[in-house]
Amino acid sequence: MIKLNENYLKLQDSYLFSTIAKKVSEFQEKNPNKRVIKLGIGDVTLPIAPTIIENIKKSADEMSKKETFKGYGPEQGYDFLREKIVQFDYKTRKIEIEKDEIFVSDGAKCDTANIQELFSVDNIVAITDPVYPVYLDTNVMAGRSGNFNKETGKFDKIVYMKVCAENDFKPEIPKEKVDLIYLCFPNNPTGTVLNKIELKKWVDYAKENKAIILFDSAYEGFIVEDNVPHSIYEIEGAKEVAIEFRSFSKTAGFTGLRCAYTVVPKELKIDGISLNKLWNRRQTTKFNGVSYIIQKAAEAVYTEEGQKQIKQNIEYYRENARIIREGLISAGYTVYGGVNAPYIWLKVPNNMKSWEFFDELLSKANVVGTPGSGFGPSGEGYFRLTAFGNREDTIEAIQRIKKLK
Ligand code: MLT
Repeated sequence: MIKLNENYLKLQDSYLFSTIAKKVSEFQEKNPNKRVIKLGIGDVTLPIAPTIIENIKKSADEMSKKETFKGYGPEQGYDFLREKIVQFDYKTRKIEIEKDEIFVSDGAKCDTANIQELFSVDNIVAITDPVYPVYLDTNVMAGRSGNFNKETGKFDKIVYMKVCAENDFKPEIPKEKVDLIYLCFPNNPTGTVLNKIELKKWVDYAKENKAIILFDSAYEGFIVEDNVPHSIYEIEGAKEVAIEFRSFSKTAGFTGLRCAYTVVPKELKIDGISLNKLWNRRQTTKFNGVSYIIQKAAEAVYTEEGQKQIKQNIEYYRENARIIREGLISAGYTVYGGVNAPYIWLKVPNNMKSWEFFDELLSKANVVGTPGSGFGPSGEGYFRLTAFGNREDTIEAIQRIKKLK
């Protein structure tokens, strides 16, 4: 008889952001006259930069002509885009990455999940707590989690690295031996960062313990401070122990267009076997690449105009982050993040639980955020707001939250 993948039954009923969307639409149904401001999911609101749109139109036009029409492209991504990535995202930072170490994809979310296929289910996975839920949920799906303990709110085979105000939201090296370590910096959800020395500790640990770091740097475009690494490969030796995930979603507003890439260095080997080769094998078998039009859109990000325009958008979100941060601080909230990242992580007032605060904010201020506990047990008592809203809404949301206090 057919059997289910029972790991799925260990998951919560729905993905965090789907649960929030459902709650909000129920609220809206009951209160059709209330204008709800959504600062929950980190989805961009500014339109795509004009240069990028131009390239989309031009490449769509190419598809309409026999001479320039394109069918299947290379599964790893077109050379024109991989070359720009090598040049602009790495060479300018004095990092040597080769074109065939770059794998263009339709999202860092899928890549951080799919990459697990290269690793045995017996590996021990370490994640921060709180964490971007995709890393945890997909390891549960894959059978790497063990059982869920209702008392602790944790899976017994996953190693949770607590990050909280007391350790400045910097994970500590786990006491137990771990094999796969997910690090996301600038961090989702806390909006905090590691400096180069702090990140080096992880690279050293991975080298000494034959572990692999899965480094998600989807938010690197928001870094303003000098000593914060944009890439893990700024740390010497990282190419032997780390895979890096990058995305155009947050830096160039591609959440709807879908384009990202993953770097699997050739130095990265397990028992002499190249992970680059295996990932290439996986992608060529299971993936047919990102559409030509969207890769052309991503290419435009690296033009002079493209850079100028996407930076203006990032600046806009950064200003939103400042408005949220300073507004909340002046209202007496304790606030973290929001400097090198588009997320503001706040302490929930009056010892409320994260979901209680979510309900209060939604019902009284008609503002949506993300409850910290949705990112893990140590997120309890915290709350996340995103800087990706539009300016007027962001200002109004903060005014409404201030009135609540
Ligand atoms: C978030 O809100 O955490 C992000 O939008 C999630 C994502 O990038 O998938």
